[in-house]
Amino acid sequence: MNAHTPDAPAADFSFRLIAEDGRARRGEIRMPRGTVRTPAFMPVGTAATVKAMYPGQVRELGADIILGNTYHLMLRPGAERVARLGGLHEFARWPHPILTDSGGFQVMSLSALRQMSEKGVTFRSHIDGSTHEMTPERSIEIQGLLGSDIQMQLDECIRLPADREEIRRAMELSLRWAERCAVAFGTQPGKAMFGIVQGGDQPDLRIRSAEALTALELKGYAVGGLAVGEPQSVMLATLDETLPSLPRLKPRYLMGVGTPDDIIQSVARGIDMFDCVMPTRAGRHGQAFTPYGRLNLRNAKHAEDTRPLDETSDCPASRDYSRAYLHHLVKSEETLGSMLLTWHNLAYYQTLMAGIRAAIDAGRFETFRAETTARWTGGEE
Ligand code: GUN
Repeated sequence: MNAHTPDAPAADFSFRLIAEDGRARRGEIRMPRGTVRTPAFMPVGTAATVKAMYPGQVRELGADIILGNTYHLMLRPGAERVARLGGLHEFARWPHPILTDSGGFQVMSLSALRQMSEKGVTFRSHIDGSTHEMTPERSIEIQGLLGSDIQMQLDECIRLPADREEIRRAMELSLRWAERCAVAFGTQPGKAMFGIVQGGDQPDLRIRSAEALTALELKGYAVGGLAVGEPQSVMLATLDETLPSLPRLKPRYLMGVGTPDDIIQSVARGIDMFDCVMPTRAGRHGQAFTPYGRLNLRNAKHAEDTRPLDETSDCPASRDYSRAYLHHLVKSEETLGSMLLTWHNLAYYQTLMAGIRAAIDAGRFETFRAETTARWTGGEE
């Protein structure tokens, strides 16, 4: 476990670096609702729930912060309703920090009939077809109603590959929206609004975006528009090109990433925060992440395997159930199969993050990275 004991929660939002090892960083974000140990993985709680998990379980695994989605919550149950019910922390019984995404990315990937303009984006709900308008100001208003601790600017994220001209247009629009979000957010002690670097796979556009956002003196910065169809090599090269243009003493969040390998390679380049549906979604689809790589529990080879997923783990889901039983649950589409595999996967991700943090603290991150990735590629246990 981690040698470092986090400081008590603070009145204001702050970030400090505790250790650096190469470009990898060990830090701490302090907020009134709690302290986030970085590098951090944020489990995704899109609709005010980390699917198939109790909030207490998520916390016990070592998650300091979870992610919620503006897009989903504005449509159902509605941001004003969540506010009347005491805010998202109270509603979902998660008293620790919450980061909300702004909605831009989910509008692009989920809604129908989107219309972009300078003002914002108009879209049809994927739930009931109703029409909604999302502006930078409305996104910040909704995130305020939800009461999240870290709010994201509204941005336009485009899939790759894309034309340079299209990438440039979306990046510049996102910059103008960052300024409007910063004005709408104002100063809120204890909370933060993060800007999002866009610019696709174009290094000069990434740098321009990072520099312009840095000039806004926001409390943190995300790198968006990655893991959207490009190979991992392009994503990592983009981080190499972009991160030197972001301030060293602010947290850096890579949005929507990724596999355990994506995470460890991005930490090596200086990323502090991650979120991804991968451990939760893959768990509901019968996939397990283990120290020896990925397993598909649907596969018949597990049908009579009495070994647990990971006997070295503290997590009951990893340690106490046979692969044969998990195979049976997955094949039978039993709810418990989703619950156990989600629990196991989130335990694996949080153990990985704790290992990363301890390795940076001890100045042996490179060794940890080499050993961990060699085990994944070394084949199954
Ligand atoms: N989630 C994953 N990528 C992105 C992005 O580029 N922007 C936003 N807002 N959310 C994301």
